[in-house]
Amino acid sequence: MTSISKEAIADRLAEARQRTLELIQPLDDEQLNRVYSPILSPLAWDLGHIANFEELWLVQTIGNREPLRGELGRFYDAIENPRKTRGQLPILRDAELRAYLDDVRERTLEVLDAVDIGPDVGDPLLRGGFIYEMLLAHELQHNETMLQLLQMVDGYTPLRIEPLPAAPPPGTGAKMVSVDGGEHWIGASSEGFAYDNERPSHSVELSPFEIDSTPVSNAAYIQFIEEAGTEPPMYWERDGEGWVDTAMGRRDPVDPDRPVVHVSWHDADAFAGWAGKRLPTEQEWEAASPQLGAVGEVWEWTSSDFLAYPGFEPFPYREYSEVFFGDTYKVLRGGSWATQESVMRPSFRNWDLPQRRQIFSGFRCASTPA
Ligand code: AVJ
Ligand code: FE
Repeated sequence: MTSISKEAIADRLAEARQRTLELIQPLDDEQLNRVYSPILSPLAWDLGHIANFEELWLVQTIGNREPLRGELGRFYDAIENPRKTRGQLPILRDAELRAYLDDVRERTLEVLDAVDIGPDVGDPLLRGGFIYEMLLAHELQHNETMLQLLQMVDGYTPLRIEPLPAAPPPGTGAKMVSVDGGEHWIGASSEGFAYDNERPSHSVELSPFEIDSTPVSNAAYIQFIEEAGTEPPMYWERDGEGWVDTAMGRRDPVDPDRPVVHVSWHDADAFAGWAGKRLPTEQEWEAASPQLGAVGEVWEWTSSDFLAYPGFEPFPYREYSEVFFGDTYKVLRGGSWATQESVMRPSFRNWDLPQRRQIFSGFRCASTPA
């Protein structure tokens, strides 16, 4: 295994932090502290949590140092503190919050300087820089959660807008590709960084299936809601004959050719039934991913519950994946325009509750040939 250098890690940590700070740069402290939705944290919580998670793993665990602010960490524990309670916690705010982000980062870099992250070190947290990759992924994933909240901030204008993947050619939404049945290899190999829930890689036996070559478009979804009389995606409002997208307080006409976004699993499942199709399983999605077009603009709901792969072992902590396994959460695959590229890979598993629409979620359909 080729090992990542400490310089590269330090650069990528700085880059992720720059992205985080750019996201909040247009906001004032009041907006950072405000609770916009019971299902999302105030931005100040995400920021403190990013720093506290970094302190916990890269300073306390790896560097063996005492916490900077005593018991503060318990307010940033995502399991102990459900999202709807986070606005009332005695979390760090304003200048104190910014100072904490900087203080932690300073110590992180001191510790990084002193550790060995070679491919042969005994500690699996350090081997190949695993824990640093995990921290980078964590901050970038929280950037996406912050962007979910930023959809609710009137007049917010992002400083940087990542380029969207090329739009699928108009009218091609319904084109399907055939995937052979048989043995398919699923999951992440033991080389390099991946989350525990992507491992171990294993083979699955699939029946032949067909899958849409692009995610379902707004045009197709409009036809569905108008015929079936179901709820529109989150942030859509009627505007005369058409629909407008009101995220960030704007009123942009819905672009018929882009993938539909902000739909729930129940919405996606109902659309698939209406179209005479079904949602793909996550295994089908992954097996088809080399042939799939237009991945990366919206997360894609699958029919699968978030379950452990056979032989799963929690690493490095049970609360990342294991506590969510079961039939409560549905798996999403791919990635959205708000997902940083290094977080996207064919084996990556995202999950959320089937009724949720605040995430950047769309879907594509599959079918089983007769
Ligand atoms: C993978 C997006 C479901 O936000 O709950 C962030 C990512 N885990 N901090 C979540 C995560 C711990 C996770 N999701
Ligand atoms: Fe987190």
